[in-house]
Amino acid sequence: MDNIQFDREHIWHPYTSAIEPLPCYEVTAANGAEITLANGKKLVEGMSSWWACIHGYNNKRINEAAKAQLDTFSHVMFGGLTHKPAIDLTSRLLDMVPIGLSRVFLCDSGSVSVEVAIKMAIQYWAVQGQPQKAKLVAPRNGYHGDTFAAMSVCDPINGMHSLFKKSLIQHHFAPAPQTAFGKTWNPDDIAPLRDIFEQHHEEVAALILEPVVQGAGGMRIYHPEYVRACRQLCDEFNILLICDEIATGFGRTGELFACNHVDVTPDILCLGKALTGGYLSMAATLCTEQVALGVCEGEPGVFMHGPTFMGNPLAAAIAKTSIDVLLESNWRANVNRIEQQLKIGLTHLQDHAAVADVRVLGAIGVVEMKTDVNVTRLQSVFIANGAWIRPFAKLIYLMPPYITSDKQLAILCNAIEKGIHTCF
Ligand SMILES: Cc1ncc(COP(=O)(O)O)c(C=O)c1O
Repeated sequence: MDNIQFDREHIWHPYTSAIEPLPCYEVTAANGAEITLANGKKLVEGMSSWWACIHGYNNKRINEAAKAQLDTFSHVMFGGLTHKPAIDLTSRLLDMVPIGLSRVFLCDSGSVSVEVAIKMAIQYWAVQGQPQKAKLVAPRNGYHGDTFAAMSVCDPINGMHSLFKKSLIQHHFAPAPQTAFGKTWNPDDIAPLRDIFEQHHEEVAALILEPVVQGAGGMRIYHPEYVRACRQLCDEFNILLICDEIATGFGRTGELFACNHVDVTPDILCLGKALTGGYLSMAATLCTEQVALGVCEGEPGVFMHGPTFMGNPLAAAIAKTSIDVLLESNWRANVNRIEQQLKIGLTHLQDHAAVADVRVLGAIGVVEMKTDVNVTRLQSVFIANGAWIRPFAKLIYLMPPYITSDKQLAILCNAIEKGIHTCF
């Protein structure tokens, strides 16, 4: 049995069928902004391995850091023990995140960091003598992960609510932000959220949102003033603000964090994906001193979470080095350059009859079609044209590594153009 056949019969892939799985391609190497398939074909990487691999693959400095840590120790339990990789990573994070965040919970994955954030918010209010504040509010079109608490705040329609309805806690949903990035801010945009807060604030622990870019829930790029208005509303109604920057963090939107577009500090911040430069799974939930102390000042006196691989030294050493590589690079110029190239390469697709919208921010380019795409057909055209791009629903999008050259960006944009002309 060949590898692909074995894979097809035995291995689950993300969101795919055990009966009729989508085609799967074997990778034998990945270097810089390129993936090599088993048949020798090289593809320009348009996805950064789902927003994570910001420096491209096989970064020499991160490889060296990983090897050095592996030869020292790859893991020890974090209960009662600590180590330099966690300390160095935490100090780097605190230096770069919005001012006011002071405590870091290093956990396994983005979804887990959202679970941690939600637990923190609920435990905070319980300890403050307000246990009825246990509901969340989220804008529609959000995506926060696949675990149960994370799922419960994902978009109730395009998320998985209907399937798992009986097992999910019901929260409150506001309409998605409507004013697009770069358009004139319409303060009415925030009115429905104010209504929800006015009605329900006594039972609401936190508002959770993806600042400026809603990712897997629709690739929507919205006005940063919405985030500022959310901060103000949360303060007014005594509700914590959780910003999920798992996708937007580490420069992707043109600022180090999307919150920086409006100088907002959330009470709780979730980071993941590009935290390790896409090398290993690790995420972080950061919070203010007020939240950290508030969680722990009453019974049970500790924050009730502690996964086996918390603070994993190998992942932490990699993450710390990835941050150094990022901050010592000209990442902002690169992200701006990618933004310009994506505008040049994608904007004219707006004129195609099947295209609903084209939008670009930082190193993110989105072509929204009027109807759902045929992933298999479209991907075969992309691959024939030298590009690795994974569309979903109506969305064809790019978020390449920051090192992607102009020539490689042109290959990606050209592949999208060819794909649309062939399949629509
Ligand atoms: C904004 C956001 N939050 C949370 C997650 C979940 O992260 P993970 O897949 O690492 O669990 C994702 C993943 O796509 C995401 O985009």
